This record gives sequence, structure tokens and C-alpha cells, in this order.
Amino acid sequence: MKAEEKNIIYNLLKTSDSFINGFSSPKFLKTPVFSDDIDTQEPQQENKSSDQTADDSKLSIATLSAKIQRCTRCQLARTRTNVVPGMGVENPDVIVIGEGPGYDEDMQGLPFVGRAGILLDKMLGAIELSRKTNCYIANIVKCRPPHNRDPLPEEQNSCIGFLEAQISLLKPKMILCMGRVAGHKLLNNELPMNQLHGKFFSYKDIPLMVTYHPSALLRDEALKRPAWDDLKGFKLKLDELRTK
Ligand code: URA
Repeated sequence: MKAEEKNIIYNLLKTSDSFINGFSSPKFLKTPVFSDDIDTQEPQQENKSSDQTADDSKLSIATLSAKIQRCTRCQLARTRTNVVPGMGVENPDVIVIGEGPGYDEDMQGLPFVGRAGILLDKMLGAIELSRKTNCYIANIVKCRPPHNRDPLPEEQNSCIGFLEAQISLLKPKMILCMGRVAGHKLLNNELPMNQLHGKFFSYKDIPLMVTYHPSALLRDEALKRPAWDDLKGFKLKLDELRTK
């Protein structure tokens, strides 16, 4: 369903509510921001047997990436060089989530390939994780926000359906959010980093931890110790899940 259609239904319910009650209930006072649902079905191809069509309708991560590449839902499409859908293995233990591509990622169309990416690979390597063997790396928004600003709420809302589809296709055992923006969006809270990092939360029944973004560690060496403690806790839980 499109955001526009959700808005129409919402406004209809709001109008009926105030008509029936004579006033607007408190639940309708704050208008939610709706986003489009992502169509995760591949277009059906003509001249195929029903078996082939059934197979084709199982979306692959490659097909989803191709859809993401074509996206023009928000203003970031106008300033991007490349879309950055994500990269990694197709059956990852862990999906690692950043906030959005920076300059290097925008140039190459790949996530976390600049200075922060080199540090991210080292952090993951320290707990035996890698985008080559057991991780998938993605972002909240798939196009670079100009001047590396935080992605705006409307940009995040336009894009989040893609990440939701990636998570549901990849079925990771655990989710590692790099930094505040990713943590806030997936957990739907606004806790400060000192209350957010290193704890286990749950996203659709998948254990989720937020730790410091590698860019934050590059700016402030003192964060390396707490980030390392977070990663050790993350690995313990992952090892536990692997033996189940
Ligand atoms: N920072 C992010 O959050 N994501 C990237 O892909 C690169 C830098």
C-alpha cells in the first residue's frame, strides 16, 4: 500500500471518529508519517509454467537490490551518484546496519568502503565476522545525504521498507546497528547512546544490539573501549545462538 493511500484511510478514520464522538480522540492528535510498503514480489513473467512462476516469485536479494537501484522515492535520488543497496553473503549470521552512504560509498555503490568502513571491517574481524563470509552490510537510507548530514525522517521513512525487506529475506540470527541513527530507526526510540549501546533489544524477534558508529570511534578514541566491550557481548550471544 502507498503512503498516500494510508493517509487517506487515516484521515477517513479520524473524520469518522470526530463525527461519532463530537471531538478528536487523543490517539488522532499526532499525525503519523506513513511510508510506502515495498513490493517484494518479482513481476510475473509471461509464457512460463506455473512451477517456474512459483520459483520466480521467491524474491532474491539480487532482485531486491535491483529494485532499490531504481528507486526515486525521495530527494536523495537527485543528488546521488550511485545507490548503495548493501553487500555481503545471502545467508548471514549477522546484518550490520549503518545510517547511510558517505562520499566513498556513493562513488563506489558499496557500503562502508571509506575510512569508517576499514575500521568497521576491523571491528567485525575482531569477533570473527566478515562481509565475505557471514555478514550482510546495509544502511537505513540507500543514497548519500548531501554533505554527510543525518538522513531526514522523511528520507528514512521512504527507504525503511527496503531494509525491512532485506532483513526478512536474509533472516539473520542477530542485528548489529552502528550508531544512533540506525538504532533509533529500528527500535523506534530516541534513547541517548549511553543508554542504547551494548544492550540487547529485539527487532521482530531478532536480537539487536546498538554500538558506536566507526566514524564516532575515529573522532573519539575514548569510545573504543566501550565499543569493544559491546562487541564481546555481541559475540557471546551469537555463539550461543549458533549452538542452538
Ligand atoms: N557510514 C554509514 O553509516 N554507512 C556507510 O555505508 C558508510 C559510512
